[in-house]
Amino acid sequence: MIKTIIVLKETHPLEKRVALDPKNVERFIKAGFKVIVTPDAGVKAYFNNEAYEKAGAVVTTPAFDEASIIVSINAPTAALAQQFKAGSISLSMLDPYNNVDLIKTLATQKVNAISLEFIPRITRAQSMDVLSSQATISGYQSVLISADLSPRFFPMLTTAAGTIRPAKVLVIGVGVAGLQAIATAKRLGAQVEAYDIRPDAKEQVESLGAKLVDTGVNAAGEGGYARELTEDEKAQQAKALAKHVKEAHIIITTAAIPGKRAPLIVTKEMVEAMMPGAVIVDMAAETGGNCEVTKPGETVILNEVTIAGPLNLPSTVAIHASEMFSQNIYNYLNPFITEEGLVLDLEDEVVRDSLITYEGEVVSERIKPLMTA
Ligand code: NAI
Repeated sequence: MIKTIIVLKETHPLEKRVALDPKNVERFIKAGFKVIVTPDAGVKAYFNNEAYEKAGAVVTTPAFDEASIIVSINAPTAALAQQFKAGSISLSMLDPYNNVDLIKTLATQKVNAISLEFIPRITRAQSMDVLSSQATISGYQSVLISADLSPRFFPMLTTAAGTIRPAKVLVIGVGVAGLQAIATAKRLGAQVEAYDIRPDAKEQVESLGAKLVDTGVNAAGEGGYARELTEDEKAQQAKALAKHVKEAHIIITTAAIPGKRAPLIVTKEMVEAMMPGAVIVDMAAETGGNCEVTKPGETVILNEVTIAGPLNLPSTVAIHASEMFSQNIYNYLNPFITEEGLVLDLEDEVVRDSLITYEGEVVSERIKPLMTA
């Protein structure tokens, strides 16, 4: 029975978050676990080693000498995974479609790997949903970046020096991040339009006081996600969107299809038609971008339009991103805590969908087809 939790230190240079904050460490300790925190795992999120020790954790380089629950934000490195003891449970945003070799390693090590991105989008699992908690942050932060880059105010202002009209913001892709982008832009006083291909988006957009752009394309896919558009649908979408893109001062793009390259929605031609000083923040930069001009990790200018392609936005709000992530992890594991330690229920829908490897086998139906040879 597993009674130890190990918190890894993230290795990616842009990563500032930590998977478990001192508050949730304390909750696990109260529930009977021993928690080992890798030294400095939380420093970039302003949780220092002393804060973890005060919460009851042991701050030391983990030895991986017993089956443990190993938590991290991003997938563990292959080198580290090779040290994990058989029977351990690894929880992370495993990014399984892009980590096939690592999944093989985890299976060989007999590590039971959970990909937090695969938690089903069901009501019961909302409190465990890292995609939602982190997308909320990205949506908020993308609007602040756009406001910073824009040479215009967001709110309407009536001043002695004249009246300023509110900025026109267009949000493309209205999932969790897009909805937060709408809410943030509204709070800053902008006039907001939004666009999505799922019909459910209309009610959500309107409930936030924004206006839905209707292109006549409806592409609801499985599990509440969107599906890829056909060529005809893409052309119809582009034609209807062009006018709204041209009139926007700010565009925030968040459109995504799980496991696929981000859909290309704002073409170079559309950017060239935008007004001077307009700004695009392409939140989908990491998965290829929704705008043809986007360069991931860079801010470029085309025809006096600024196009930002920021990477890892949640990490830029590291304290709250870590706190929300930690809470998601606690909520995921809490139902399986027993007096003896952690016992995952493999019949549970949340576990079944998010478990990638189990006892040496790749068990995820979504990932099995990728495991050739
Ligand atoms: P996502 O990050 O996968 O995609 C963002 C948005 O882009 C989606 O709304 C999608 O419809 C849209 N999109 C895709 N292709 C597009 C295109 N060509 N043009 C315009 N928009 C396009 O989405 P996210 O935020 O992960 O949400 C996906 C779904 O899951 C939503 O229906 C959301 O309401 C639902 N959800 C349910 C939860 C639960 O019940 N536990 C929790 C969070 C989300």
